Amino acid sequence: MAVKAAAGKVMNTLSLIEYGPVIPVIVIQRLADAVPLARALVAGGVRVLEVTLRTPVALECIRAIVREVPQAIVGAGTLRSVADAEAAKDAGCRFGVSPGYRSELGHACRNLGLPLLPGVATASEVMAASADGHGFLKFFPATAAGGIPMLKALGGPFADVVFCPTGGLTAETAPQFLALANVKVCGGSWLTPQDAVDAGDWGRITALARAASQLPR
Ligand code: 3PG
Repeated sequence: MAVKAAAGKVMNTLSLIEYGPVIPVIVIQRLADAVPLARALVAGGVRVLEVTLRTPVALECIRAIVREVPQAIVGAGTLRSVADAEAAKDAGCRFGVSPGYRSELGHACRNLGLPLLPGVATASEVMAASADGHGFLKFFPATAAGGIPMLKALGGPFADVVFCPTGGLTAETAPQFLALANVKVCGGSWLTPQDAVDAGDWGRITALARAASQLPR
């Protein structure tokens, strides 16, 4: 679960929380958008970036951001297989995020030295991930899988687990999730609206990032 921090020290995925209350879930369609998009988010105070492996250019985008935006702490989202984890590590990612959990993926990430934020949506999945040593979990798809009542309910048997809800959150609902005792950070795509990216409206993205980075928790 160790991540190389900017200063070279090793940190846990939980340390990502220290950088702010929101991790943007980013889908990049055009390689040319990667660096300006990352710079826009960093300018708004959002340094931890989850770039999803959902487009053909995703790995190239990650490489470009790692190379050209050193203030960014770049992770790969949508890790579904061991091969995805290997590719993310090879591209320079500092952490990985998966929509669900498989032990095979968790073990591979550990062997690669790629800290993993694994996704869960049920009590059984929390048990499986925490049995493998994961105490910080993505709750996905947060809104569809029960939202705030579900997170409160999971807090009973799993009081030691911290969650990052993503999936269906908005600028308006994120504060309600961040107010929960077992939520320290949340994620979502609302910081990077596709129309703003398509238009190169980086100022709008910086403004969204600034608002997100200042959310109380
Ligand atoms: C994720 O992978 O976490 C989700 O796709 C993000 O969901 P959102 O687009 O509803 O924020």
